Amino acid sequence: MQALLNILLALSFLFSHALAVVVSPGGPANIVITKENTINATTDARTKVRRDTSSGTLDLSFLNNIDSPYVNAYVTGLDSNGDLVMLQPDGTWYYPTADSSGVPQAVEADIAISLGGQGSVTNITLPGWISSGRVYFADGSLQFFTVQSATGAASLVTPSAVNPSDPSAGVNWGFVELTNDETYGLYANISYVDFIGLALGMTLTTSGGTNQTALGVQSTAAIGVCTDLTAQAASDGQPWGELCMSDSTGRVLRVLSPTDYLSIDSTAFEDYWTSYIDEVWSYYTTTPLTIDTQAAAGEVNCTVSNVTLYCDGDNRGYAKPTATDLFGCNGGPFAIEGGDNAVHYAVVPRLPTNLVF
Ligand SMILES: *[C@@H]1O[C@H](CO)[C@@H](O)[C@H](O)[C@H]1NC(C)=O
Ligand SMILES: *[C@@H]1O[C@H](CO)[C@@H](O)[C@H](O)[C@H]1NC(C)=O
Ligand SMILES: *[C@@H]1O[C@H](CO)[C@@H](O)[C@H](O)[C@H]1NC(C)=O
Ligand SMILES: *[C@@H]1O[C@H](CO)[C@@H](O)[C@H](O)[C@H]1NC(C)=O
Ligand SMILES: *[C@@H]1O[C@H](CO)[C@@H](O)[C@H](O)[C@H]1NC(C)=O
Ligand SMILES: *[C@@H]1O[C@H](CO)[C@@H](O)[C@H](O)[C@H]1NC(C)=O
Repeated sequence: MQALLNILLALSFLFSHALAVVVSPGGPANIVITKENTINATTDARTKVRRDTSSGTLDLSFLNNIDSPYVNAYVTGLDSNGDLVMLQPDGTWYYPTADSSGVPQAVEADIAISLGGQGSVTNITLPGWISSGRVYFADGSLQFFTVQSATGAASLVTPSAVNPSDPSAGVNWGFVELTNDETYGLYANISYVDFIGLALGMTLTTSGGTNQTALGVQSTAAIGVCTDLTAQAASDGQPWGELCMSDSTGRVLRVLSPTDYLSIDSTAFEDYWTSYIDEVWSYYTTTPLTIDTQAAAGEVNCTVSNVTLYCDGDNRGYAKPTATDLFGCNGGPFAIEGGDNAVHYAVVPRLPTNLVF
């Protein structure tokens, strides 16, 4: 089935407030390489000779609603061989390579797809299947780098939203994630799990007609969220305002999720829920917490004993979560381990939001 992904960009420049973190873009030496800002080829860069010749083309259409003539799109991902790919403006894949210097090397190839001015539409077709894909949009230019991973495979180092000294930190950017796989088909999202920045929306058009649209946030979302976070910081003294990042002129660029902010300030919000969780634990010592797993396990009762929450039929209990655990919902007591049973798998996704009384 032929599919077309239309992506709309919107942006508004608005001004910030004193609490925001002001970014100061650096060079390759300022790059912090993590698993969050890398995508690693699954093939070996030193022996790589394969090229993807399979089908899997996907039409993309970009509508620029931003009042800027400097907007670029970049497509990154893995082809069906697991090789790193970036899309070139001529519609062919570029295959980034990495050297063994250990120093991030800038990708110098022509991988910026320049969009026209406000209101213009740019069409381009992905030449083949893509997984772990992203379409980045930037009001300006983004910098991508490569390093060799421990196995010798090429690792693409992408712009980092959390590092205020990342070479691309001063640019307003965002991305759509997608996988277009031979077996499972097309998946795309504007999930905003990590940050809100450049506003993006998208529509998927199939041969059967337009039927899936994700509008995304409003163009003024980032500044609105920052304004609300500033008010919240004033009321509870927590570092909410520092989730906002602005450029040196005060323009809000992005708002980090608390989880991402914790990766640069691990003690932030440390005691945010401590006393509340103490009360929750105390309450469910004498009253059962009933969790509707909405899975085969049905309703499951849980009670606290010996400072641990135990659920009926579950292979192990849950310690009190920290703020980091509660923001992320997949670490600490919410992490799945080998040997966890079906009840544990069913309880974990429902547990964080059920820890209320
Ligand atoms: C882009 O593709 C869309 C959908 O196929 C089409 O309607 C439109 O005319 C194309 N625009 C340009 C500038 O090629
Ligand atoms: C990719 O490889 C780099 C270098 O070895 C490593 O630091 C990074 O965590 C890896 N990324 C992922 C997503 O596994
Ligand atoms: C978004 O899409 C990517 C690619 O399909 C996928 O790996 C990722 O898990 C998705 N994220 C969310 C929050 O659904
Ligand atoms: C989208 O369109 C296809 C083809 O017409 C149809 O099979 C599918 O049910 C539609 N999905 C939604 C969510 O409307
Ligand atoms: C959970 O506990 C409540 C209160 O004791 C009880 O009424 C209910 O039947 C229990 N549910 C399950 C699924 O054990
Ligand atoms: C309570 O939990 C602690 C820590 O897991 C454990 O060492 C201790 O044996 C437990 N006590 C009882 C009575 O279960």
